[in-house]
Amino acid sequence: MKITVIGAGAVGATTADNLVRRNIAEEIILLDIKEGVAEGKAQDMMQTAALLGFDSKVKGVTNDYISTAGSSVAVITSGIPRKPGMTREELIGTNAGIVKSVVENLIQHSPDIIILIVSNPMDTMTYLALKASGLPKNRIIGMGGALDSARFKYQISQKFNASANDLNAIVIGGHGDTTMIPLIEHATWNSIPVRDFLTAEEKAEIVNKTMVGGATLTALIGTSAWYAPGAATAAMVESIVCNQNRLFTASVLLEGEFGEQDITMGVPVIINSKGWDRIVPLELSQEEQDLFKKSTEAVRKMNAVLTDSNLF
Ligand code: NAI
Ligand code: 2OP
Repeated sequence: MKITVIGAGAVGATTADNLVRRNIAEEIILLDIKEGVAEGKAQDMMQTAALLGFDSKVKGVTNDYISTAGSSVAVITSGIPRKPGMTREELIGTNAGIVKSVVENLIQHSPDIIILIVSNPMDTMTYLALKASGLPKNRIIGMGGALDSARFKYQISQKFNASANDLNAIVIGGHGDTTMIPLIEHATWNSIPVRDFLTAEEKAEIVNKTMVGGATLTALIGTSAWYAPGAATAAMVESIVCNQNRLFTASVLLEGEFGEQDITMGVPVIINSKGWDRIVPLELSQEEQDLFKKSTEAVRKMNAVLTDSNLF
């Protein structure tokens, strides 16, 4: 089993590091365009093998797609991250060209590959990867909801001084500060609805803190976050590689589900060796449905930039 991670920057390297520690793949290829960076980070990770006790191998390469041949799964993190004050959407001009060429190179050497898109604006990059690649819909998955849901659980855990492991909470919709929808009314603390313990103001506070979770970290760090994004991506890759059938929210093609067509949006899906296997139906209140509609409109507007740029 071979996994490829494109982009050896903050998120790509953290994803590879999380994966190698899990010991689930024989080989992980870490690829970057910057000469030597992936090689150096891969060697650094391999020097933790004797300390952490894994046998997986990470190999760093500079733009060498031949080394990626025969990969079962690839993660695309290449592109620029946002700086303080920037939205994810402002990255589209640079990242669209990068994502398109990376997808083409990957498929050329691994025609059966399943691709996870991390680069932002993620929902639009996922739509681009799907359209530009012509791959079956189940093999293109956008990572955003898994991260946002983990951040949502973090915010709830802070409020209750609870273990994040006891919380069940998901974020659907787009992966953007104003497009994501943390489903607070559905969240539970080991099956007990958290809404029973919260005032309307407290619920709004948790939802708002979740929505600006990425921007808060970008303002503090000076660039976007990588620990939780890397961990969320690795968990999804593991579910594919080990056929775990785990439920994540992820950006996938909608063909009538949630009342939408021809758009990739964050919805609950089962992830296994097929990629995303099926969408899990979810009953939404009228208010939640309206938010989902608003979110798809914003993502659709972003996707129109791709069509206008003749990218597929
Ligand atoms: P980074 O700047 O640390 O790393 C990006 C890497 O991509 C750099 O090493 C760069 O040399 C490389 N790169 C650029 N063009 C390339 C190409 N054509 N082929 C191979 N490598 C190439 O950025 P970071 O922090 O790792 O973020 C990466 C992307 O992930 C950004 O677009 C960021 O916004 C996004 N992101 C998405 C998240 C999500 O939940 N979907 C969460 C966090 C970040
Ligand atoms: C994040 O949510 C910027 O998408 C990136 O941290």
